[in-house]
Amino acid sequence: MKTRITELLGIRHPIIQGGMHYVGFAELAAAVSNAGGLGIITGLTQRTPELLAREIARAREMTDQPIGVNLTFLPTFASPPYPEYIRAIIEGGVTIVETAGRSPQAYMPALKEAGIKVIHKCTSVRHALKAEKIGCDAVSVDGFECGGHPGEDDIPNMILLPRAAEELTIPFVASGGMADARSLVAALALGADGINMGTRFIATREAPVHENVKQAIVAASELDTRLIMRRLTNTERVLANPAVDRIVEIERDKGADLTIDDIHDLVAGVYPKVMIDGDMDAGAWSCGMVAGLIHDVPSCQELIDRIMSEAESLISARLAGMLAH
Ligand SMILES: Cc1cc2nc3c(=O)[nH]c(=O)nc-3n(C[C@H](O)[C@H](O)[C@H](O)COP(=O)(O)O)c2cc1C
Repeated sequence: MKTRITELLGIRHPIIQGGMHYVGFAELAAAVSNAGGLGIITGLTQRTPELLAREIARAREMTDQPIGVNLTFLPTFASPPYPEYIRAIIEGGVTIVETAGRSPQAYMPALKEAGIKVIHKCTSVRHALKAEKIGCDAVSVDGFECGGHPGEDDIPNMILLPRAAEELTIPFVASGGMADARSLVAALALGADGINMGTRFIATREAPVHENVKQAIVAASELDTRLIMRRLTNTERVLANPAVDRIVEIERDKGADLTIDDIHDLVAGVYPKVMIDGDMDAGAWSCGMVAGLIHDVPSCQELIDRIMSEAESLISARLAGMLAH
């Protein structure tokens, strides 16, 4: 399958693995890229730019295919040295960066000067248009369904993707709720040039996370995510667990008086405990509604091959077969 995204990124299949905190290590990024998609290392999971440089070098030993690095500009509890992270990316020979959170505008000159292709992940048409205007090469449009931060507009992909297609000139991928060939074909029909998946790629053999995380995703249904931190204008979709129930309760009790300090211990420093130790109730961790569509733990190669072959038969048999002959 050839789309504007496969052409732009030099990949075989229009499938991207979105940056994920404590999931997007070299092992996963390399496995996705070796399977013909675009694997992405999560920059800020590496505590220093030096560690990111090492992670990029590790991925390079595992694949000769293109890989990307995610740079997330979110309200974090400490401000990371972004220019040094960008230097590690450039010196590591990475040519694709996924930005997310705030606008990457301040860093565009450095990224573009180094010949890096920038995919900005955003949750609204207005932010996608801004990304196009400041010179991003593509956008990843994250609908309300997505795991992680869906923004504050609550527009699901059935509306958001065709709206993006109406307005954008640059290529875009559909993100949020994507799991299989049906997702890919639907996304293409709605105007996207490919898909970006988060939650689906956690439940793969190569994702270097505790087995408990993969099994929690397989066990979860589409009803099992919750939205937290709405009142802090930092909404996050997470998998329900007792810690998340507690956050929801605190948020309800505090109402408009809620501050991050009220829930800090339930949302900060949680990822290593969940992803490495498999302590599933340690706090809140991102997960998409798409968990309801995830029933197995395949290898990245099996997953991507399955998506591509089923997409082909969906298009050429099911859809083409519906046309009157
Ligand atoms: C556990 C987890 C951690 C994530 N961490 C990040 C992150 O650090 N930076 C980022 O830009 N997106 C992050 N995301 C969002 C994903 O890159 C992707 O946009 C999202 O998962 C797409 O929705 P889906 O889960 O329905 O596929 C995370 C998602 C998950 C599930």
